[in-house]
Amino acid sequence: MENFTYYNPTKLIFGKGQVQELKNEIPQYGKKVLLVYGGGSIKRNGLYDQVIALLAEIGAEVHELPGVEPNPRLSTVRKGIDICRQEGIEFILAVGGGSVIDCTKAIAAGAKYDGDVWDFMSRKAVATDALPLGTVLTIAATGSEMNSGSVITNWETNEKYGWGSPAVFPKFSILDPVNTFSLPKDQTVYGMVDMMSHVLEHYFHHVPNTLTQDQWCESILRTVIETAPKLINDLQNYDHRATIMLNGTLALNKMLNMGYNGDWATHNIEHAVSAVYDIPHGGGLAIIFPNWMKHVLDENVGRFKQLAVRVFNVDTEGKTDREVALEGIEKLREFWSSIGAPSKLADYGIGEENLELMAEKTVVYGEFGRFKVLNKQDSLEILRASL
Ligand code: NZQ
Ligand code: ZN
Repeated sequence: MENFTYYNPTKLIFGKGQVQELKNEIPQYGKKVLLVYGGGSIKRNGLYDQVIALLAEIGAEVHELPGVEPNPRLSTVRKGIDICRQEGIEFILAVGGGSVIDCTKAIAAGAKYDGDVWDFMSRKAVATDALPLGTVLTIAATGSEMNSGSVITNWETNEKYGWGSPAVFPKFSILDPVNTFSLPKDQTVYGMVDMMSHVLEHYFHHVPNTLTQDQWCESILRTVIETAPKLINDLQNYDHRATIMLNGTLALNKMLNMGYNGDWATHNIEHAVSAVYDIPHGGGLAIIFPNWMKHVLDENVGRFKQLAVRVFNVDTEGKTDREVALEGIEKLREFWSSIGAPSKLADYGIGEENLELMAEKTVVYGEFGRFKVLNKQDSLEILRASL
């Protein structure tokens, strides 16, 4: 294990009815509130009305930014920044999924920055200040509710990049599993694939002596694998929704990677794919992750064997380590297919046309991945295997 500092100031407020806590939290930051949300799911499931009523009770002056897209766009971030500046917004409340939260983080930092907000995503500047923000989460997936990262797409240039800053940790995040009851099966599955992928990105590293962290990772994977089939057949089951929601947050609040850094190559490749094709993040990961695994397997077969045995209960009898490792990768693919996740780019109608373009996008900032450093040719091979 390497030296580390763990810092996470987000207050997590979890459970049924906890949206009421908005009344205690928001007044600490101000009265002029920008409410940011997506394409309408919160209006259909009643959460919007609840939030508006609570904001009225505390006498907040509410401005709204609706219509944040899945894979949130720079143009929407700019709209939000304009509102913040014109109206003197003091606090931003994100009600939605990772896209709404990521957009909110960019607005919060952009509103306090003199230059162009895209500077953060294009690595020309690092955000050092931001308006305070809080979240009411409606989909268990990204972990954005308790981390300092954000991913924004510039749809004019087909670029999608992650960025981050301690300034954009949410002050609080309210996680009521009931708010995920209306999430359809496909989005529920994408979310579970995403959280498992976050754990897997952490899991593949070369740092010795991470015994506890390994088992944290394995326990989250096993729990999601056990719960997912039950949840997709019972979408309004509170206990299953709660289990998945908690695991989504734990998978990417950076607790799992105390003392080491994970790989993150698969996320880089997926972001390149969704920058060009605007596909759901979790769907892209389900396609690419097993192919990345096969591509890098020989970096440390033992690590893949450990995953196969501890998470997928692969029987080792009479098999080489490599065979056990490969069987584990197949089990992961089978599990994702069994809950309805896609397994090839063709499932989204993606063919060979833009492989080169997507591979090029993976190396805009140079070679990438820590478990195995990859170049453009590696990306091409992984994408081709994903067709
Ligand atoms: O827009 P609305 O109408 O709200 O519908 C959304 C959207 O269509 C819908 N939805 C959300 N909650 C719902 C619901 N529908 C019914 N009932 C509910 N309770 O679900 C759709 C997807 O929402 P979105 O926010 O896009 O999903 P997710 O949370 O998976 O976020 C994906 C984005 O986050 C980025 C991804 O790249 C992608 O842009 N990521 C952010 C990360 C981070 N900040 O740490 C890490 C991740 O690895 C990821 O890259
Ligand atoms: Zn992800």
